[in-house]
Amino acid sequence: MNVTLFGLGYVGSVTATCLADRGHRVVGVDTDPGKVATVNSGRPTVIEPGLDEIAERVVASGALRASISASEGMEDSDLSLVCVGTPSALDGSTNLTYVRRVVAQIGAALAESTRPHTVVVRSTVPPGTVADVVVPLLEATSGRTVGEGLQVAMCPEFLREGSSVEDFFEPPFLVIGGSPAAAAALRELFAFLTCSVHVVDTRAAESVKYASNAFHALKVAFTNEVSRLYRALDVDARDVMKVFVEDRQLNISPAYLRPGFAFGGSCLPKDVRSLLHLGRVNNVDLPVLAGTLASNEMLVRDVADRILQEIDARGGGNRRVTLVGLAFKHATDDLRESPNVALAEILIGKGVDVHIYDPIISMSKLSGANLRYVESKLPHLQKVLHDDPSSALSGSLVAVVSSAAPRVVDAIVAADPAVVIDLNGRLAALEVLPGYQGVGW
Ligand SMILES: NC(=O)c1ccc[n+]([C@@H]2O[C@H](COP(=O)([O-])OP(=O)(O)OC[C@H]3O[C@@H](n4cnc5c(N)ncnc54)[C@H](O)[C@@H]3O)[C@@H](O)[C@H]2O)c1
Repeated sequence: MNVTLFGLGYVGSVTATCLADRGHRVVGVDTDPGKVATVNSGRPTVIEPGLDEIAERVVASGALRASISASEGMEDSDLSLVCVGTPSALDGSTNLTYVRRVVAQIGAALAESTRPHTVVVRSTVPPGTVADVVVPLLEATSGRTVGEGLQVAMCPEFLREGSSVEDFFEPPFLVIGGSPAAAAALRELFAFLTCSVHVVDTRAAESVKYASNAFHALKVAFTNEVSRLYRALDVDARDVMKVFVEDRQLNISPAYLRPGFAFGGSCLPKDVRSLLHLGRVNNVDLPVLAGTLASNEMLVRDVADRILQEIDARGGGNRRVTLVGLAFKHATDDLRESPNVALAEILIGKGVDVHIYDPIISMSKLSGANLRYVESKLPHLQKVLHDDPSSALSGSLVAVVSSAAPRVVDAIVAADPAVVIDLNGRLAALEVLPGYQGVGW
């Protein structure tokens, strides 16, 4: 393909060089004449292992050249890649000045031709940027309509500086946000990759990049935070983390990364509190760990607020809410520190007419610490706990559901509450209902 790449920095320099190495004809455009001259002399603009040798080869063969002129770089172009910087503004927002400038330049060049073209944003941009900023600007400046010979896509970059050439050729996956036609162009561009390809909408593609970087930041901060505590406790954190990462079932795995409701139960809250206490007595601040409890409680309060707002907005006097599932997680009867119990407590405190059904829980079977816990938190559970989902849901305005037993789904459809809040994504079958809401989607 004939590719025009805007922004010859870390991402752009590596991308332009490596794409040229895989048979594309690439023109790199940058506003910095020094970078343009460097590329045209066969050298990369950044120091990266393995890049010099490829750059020398592809510039010598004519597969890669650089230009300061956007319009010249766009001549005969099939696809443009936006790789300019998106730095932080003082208030933390993303400065899209460079992205806007480049998109306007691409649009102006496209106005002069009828050649089909695909514009791909490779820079990291906030969710909504492609749809709300890039597409309108491109349409205004090109006079063309996206979809008719003009495609726009988001394709985030996942390379790391220091190993960028290796990462470029072996990315974790290729994420494409855009139409099937845009995806087809990107599949052709990256045909040499063997990784999986995920085609999603542009907002999801933009968001995957942020989720990835936030998670990487969280991993580093978590590890270094527990290391600070362990050092104070005379524990070698290297020994701990060496074993920790060996757990591919729960620690380094997709476990706990499915959007859903708050954590609870007899272990996670208790053990995080215990670490926070050890931190306090040893004068070690643990903001990441403290943040887990704060964030978890916030989620319960958010769901309670959403329910109260629904009651205000469309209850018309009906304050009946049914919790389907009470235990801290599905398929157990453990109520200790269940976020569902906390949610019920908040709602009852606000005068909501709460009814509860859990396929596993009945008053007669509760015993020991479990019974004591629920008696202290929900002393009137007996009065509001139903043996049958239909009677629990009958006449309810809102169903808050963390169980998807077959009887539950049928009972929700029959009771037809105005709002169904799916707490753990098990109610996919009910997504068609107009009142369906995911807890975090
Ligand atoms: N650096 C990384 O490891 C990395 C990894 C993945 C994603 N990203 C994202 O990729 C984007 C680029 O990052 P970077 O580190 O390569 O940035 P960078 O600052 O190294 O390079 C940006 C380049 O864009 C050029 N530029 C600015 N305005 C221009 C214009 N109007 N026309 C042409 N060129 C222009 C600049 O001169 C510069 O050479 C950012 O959104 C970043 O968040 C970076």
